[in-house]
Amino acid sequence: MTAATPAIEAEAERLLAALMHVECDPHGRKWNLDTCRSIAPLTLEINRLKKEKDAVILTHSYVEPEIVYGVGDFKGDSYYLSMAARDSRAKIIVFAGVVFMAETAKILSPDALVVVPDRGSGCSLADSITGDGVRKLKALHPDASVVCYINSTADVKAECDVCVTSGNVYDIVAGLPTRRVLFVPDRLMAENLRSELKRRGVDKEIISSDGTCMVHEEFSPAQIAEARAQFPGLKVVSHPECTPEVAAASDFVGSTGAMMKYVKTTPAPYFLMLTECGLVGRLEVESPEKNFIGGCRLCPYMKLNSLEKIRDALAAPRPDQIVTLDEDLRRRAARCIGKMFELTPAAKKD
Ligand code: 13P
Ligand code: SF4
Repeated sequence: MTAATPAIEAEAERLLAALMHVECDPHGRKWNLDTCRSIAPLTLEINRLKKEKDAVILTHSYVEPEIVYGVGDFKGDSYYLSMAARDSRAKIIVFAGVVFMAETAKILSPDALVVVPDRGSGCSLADSITGDGVRKLKALHPDASVVCYINSTADVKAECDVCVTSGNVYDIVAGLPTRRVLFVPDRLMAENLRSELKRRGVDKEIISSDGTCMVHEEFSPAQIAEARAQFPGLKVVSHPECTPEVAAASDFVGSTGAMMKYVKTTPAPYFLMLTECGLVGRLEVESPEKNFIGGCRLCPYMKLNSLEKIRDALAAPRPDQIVTLDEDLRRRAARCIGKMFELTPAAKKD
């Protein structure tokens, strides 16, 4: 074990100030001064490498808390992190999330070296359809606007008119000029989109492909009913990747960023977070006075990130950790994401 120098001791104290609040830890760890001391040499090394190499680390809220609070420069949902990548002037972007997010960063920040800690960090949604699959659907529905959820590969984005995130999907699709909309790859988000557009009185025909999020599709109305019976006053907060039945039984449905805002601003004795457990960890740190009753699930892909892999990707990235894209494909994908930035209502731009 590394001797606890004053620098390690100070780093351990810094880590503890955030991590001491985390109860929903993916490995069941209890964060105390000893556990913080054990990771402090690594967070110090990563933070030093960041300065030396002019790098930033973007962390999705689903990755492990020691990554988000130990080394993350930007933490948030897909929309926020896309903006951070677009506006970054750093030479290196390390994306602690999943591969489609790192690809999005490369599309938006082509001059940066973009690296992923683990090339295996896929996504059941992004992996459900290819650019070729979208071309086939477009041939069947030539009059439709073509919309992709950001959880898609660069290859898919290059085929689409506009990209959306969980935070702007309803507003962007509602404002499209055509009645028919081809929406890929999330079938459940498409169902939630149909209900929301109906509620808003917007007449659209949504045609979708068949992807689902392997994490969010597992939540059920029965889980909600059981939790409500056990915890009076409970607020149920879910993501639009959940089934429409779960969305209908929830008090709030939104992006992970919007879910965090809702919890922070809503007085309630208990919250059930129907999403990935990393978000609960973030809320425990940032809203330690709130009570979370469990019930979240782990995304195996997000959990492939680790401090060790981030250090290695920063110190000397292996070829498989470096994101590269064909320039023509990148430009077409950038147009699709650029359209999203243009169409996102001002109130949803944070
Ligand atoms: P958010 O953009 O809401 O953070 O969602 C990303 C994601 O992968 C949800 O499963
Ligand atoms: Fe993909 Fe679902 Fe994991 Fe999000 S939680 S990265 S949608 S598999």
